[in-house]
Amino acid sequence: MRIFSGIQPTGAKHLGNYIGGFTQYVATQELGEGFFCIVDLHSITVEHDPAELRTATIDLAAMLFASGLDPARSTTFVQSHVHAHAEAAWLLGSVTSFGELRRMTQFKDKGDKQEFVSAGLFTYPVLMAGDILLYQTDLVPIGDDQRQHLELTRDIATRFNQRFGETFRIPDGRYPEIGARIMDLQEPENKMSTTGGTPLGTVFVADPPDVIRRKFKGAVTDSGHEVHRAADKPGVTNLVEIMAVATGTPPEAVEDRYDGQGYGQFKSDIAEAVIAFLEPVRLRYEELAADPGELERLLRAGAEKAAAVAAPTLEAMYDRMGFARP
Ligand code: AMP
Ligand code: TRP
Repeated sequence: MRIFSGIQPTGAKHLGNYIGGFTQYVATQELGEGFFCIVDLHSITVEHDPAELRTATIDLAAMLFASGLDPARSTTFVQSHVHAHAEAAWLLGSVTSFGELRRMTQFKDKGDKQEFVSAGLFTYPVLMAGDILLYQTDLVPIGDDQRQHLELTRDIATRFNQRFGETFRIPDGRYPEIGARIMDLQEPENKMSTTGGTPLGTVFVADPPDVIRRKFKGAVTDSGHEVHRAADKPGVTNLVEIMAVATGTPPEAVEDRYDGQGYGQFKSDIAEAVIAFLEPVRLRYEELAADPGELERLLRAGAEKAAAVAAPTLEAMYDRMGFARP
């Protein structure tokens, strides 16, 4: 079984990424042959700082290895190191419609926030489809926000197969059972995010313990003044989910345990649970980040393996589409 996922080297990675992304990558790498891609080509679709992109790429590699991706077992690499990704995106653009791309909610959300809406932001899902399809992927571990992009990938693959002959495997998504959508601690109506989130509402994987404590202490629990059932309070539901994931207990058990207790104790217990959950990753990350030479070596080896696996599919795409190959 082939597993593929991608993650952008933009900004510091947060608890939502860790739960929706990293923990799933590590779990799925046990199921088969995993490819985990640092998607730097995606990161230039909104305004970016070149120097930051370069450091964020190496930094994200450190964090992926720190969270448990094993270079001996799965392939971790940088998207721009494997030329097939940019080429596949161009070819697949011809089997993707303007109307499909215009309906993507991530494009609408991110586009609304930009002064300059790039063509790249619009065609971003086509690049993502190419990432996945080049590896004949069976399973794509992602968070809930990427569901629509994966559906589009399946549609693109099906259309290509129908027009040009069987070329791609149709991938399935895999979403975390709990924590597929971690919300901002200050604005629990919005997902936790690097770009749109509040500074106090976003918990970073590399946050030191006292910062994590402060953020949970200030977490919003009530949106109104009246007493509601827990289910009506997005802030509380989110905290219950975080606690459930951090301690590996079902959310119902967390609710039972804290039923009728004050928020103070609950929040401080969550903070401690999250600190314990993230601490080993942060420590390992600090160690790995101190040796960029070794990270670059691992990424070079990853790119070499990935390129070899992607090449036959790219070649089949060119061939079936009728290109006269050199
Ligand atoms: P990104 O950093 O946007 O490349 O996202 C990396 C992974 O984290 C993707 O699989 C996303 O679906 C996932 N993700 C991002 N934000 C959240 C969130 N708030 N809750 C759960 N998963 C998330
Ligand atoms: N668009 C994804 C995100 O922002 C990142 C991504 C790019 C991806 N290519 C991918 C995820 C391929 C899964 C598979 O989170």
